[in-house]
Amino acid sequence: METRVLALDDRTYAEFRAYVQELTGISYSDAKRYLLEGRIKRRMGEIGLTDGRSYLHFLRTDPRGKDEVESLIDQVSIHETSFFRHPRQFELLRDVLAELVAERRARGPRRLRLWSAACSSGEEAFTAAMVVHDLVPSADWRVEVFGTDISTAVLNKARAGRFARRTGTAMPEAYARYLSADPANDEVLCLAPEIHRMVSFSVVSLVDEARTRAMRDMDVILCRNVLIYFDQETKQKVLASLHQCLTPGGYLVLGPADSLHGLNSPLQRTPHSVYNFYRRAPAPPRPAAAATAPTAPTARPRPAAALPVPPALSATDTFRLKLLVNRVDLGLKNLNQELQEALVKSVDALGVISQAVDGAAQNGQCSRPVERELARVSWQITRILQWLEVGDRTGQKVEATRAYLQELSDRLFGADQEAPDLRVNTGAFDHSILPTEAEAEEHQGAMSQDDIDKLFG
Ligand SMILES: C[S@@+](CC[C@H](N)C(=O)[O-])C[C@H]1O[C@@H](n2cnc3c(N)ncnc32)[C@H](O)[C@@H]1O
Repeated sequence: METRVLALDDRTYAEFRAYVQELTGISYSDAKRYLLEGRIKRRMGEIGLTDGRSYLHFLRTDPRGKDEVESLIDQVSIHETSFFRHPRQFELLRDVLAELVAERRARGPRRLRLWSAACSSGEEAFTAAMVVHDLVPSADWRVEVFGTDISTAVLNKARAGRFARRTGTAMPEAYARYLSADPANDEVLCLAPEIHRMVSFSVVSLVDEARTRAMRDMDVILCRNVLIYFDQETKQKVLASLHQCLTPGGYLVLGPADSLHGLNSPLQRTPHSVYNFYRRAPAPPRPAAAATAPTAPTARPRPAAALPVPPALSATDTFRLKLLVNRVDLGLKNLNQELQEALVKSVDALGVISQAVDGAAQNGQCSRPVERELARVSWQITRILQWLEVGDRTGQKVEATRAYLQELSDRLFGADQEAPDLRVNTGAFDHSILPTEAEAEEHQGAMSQDDIDKLFG
């Protein structure tokens, strides 16, 4: 018989919300009450409890409640993930790692440590492992990839190394050899053994400062699509811990919806900060006298070459140009907003026309020629709607253009915290929507007369 779970009263709900935040860092706003309450009630139903207070009491005091806490954590977090999720970030990860590998080939140690913090069922950690394996397949490198999450259930899935087919839809052709269909079940994907054994998984909660900081000397940390669930204070603390976990010069990769905006962090921007690559400051070069001293693993100097050197602008120029960057940004945002509003208005107006036409056609009083005309009008409405759908792509293009603007500004002002953070949502567009670098290079920075004619003609 199905258990009838009672609604949570306001006080019990508030206690649950605080309890979940303390356990996981996840902060549910008032607007998301239905979500959290729904998940708690679902879990109560599964274990046959009907009222929230008894459930809370059980979680807090009963020794058997310890296992239940894990199930609750699993229930209240979002585990969405896939291989090569946000593919552009993995292209850049490859570039960053290639640079690191070249540097270490020249000047040891041949070691790489990567960490997928909040890895869910492992696809992100295994994707990172594929990228590294492709770069340094040889046995003389010590490569360590760690996957951690707060949820034991997802980590068990990760360890099994078997995935639903849909998680592999973004796999680039170049890595396809690392993931293949299970011969016994076409819907299941299996990892190549060399990738499977590269990653070790363990439970680490990002809000557990001591546990997090024990993850030391990382060259790259991927912490994507989890900070968005935390409030500012929690984000600030987690970022401080992650900064400590990076080796000097190491990279932190955040999710597309994350940014350091409004947070006080020593992390530096990078040429790829529009794609949320940040960096711990490289160690200062060692004084010449220390050159023969043994190298501590965390004290390796990293070349500053990856950071663009900004042109030496006067203070007045810097001020004026920053103003202009912000003006272009505002212009692009307004353009998008006005376009969206115009689209909504047009679609609404078409809806009214369409209703009137349908009403006229359905009243049965029309002659055949009039009916034919009405059918044509309907067809025209469909064509207009189809065209307006194309307009929707403009929203994506505007966001992608803002990403270019961020890069431009990083180059002008230096990729440190001086450059304005435009908070571009790189997850909102497919990066192939704009011309490729090769296409842009054809113009060598200038616009052809054809382009100008297209714009103004
Ligand atoms: C949306 S998934 C992101 C998975 C992967 N990083 C990606 O971007 O594809 C978020 C993950 O964060 C985990 N999570 C939530 N709170 C956490 C915390 N305090 N510490 C570690 N992981 C946490 C959840 O269990 C979930 O698996």
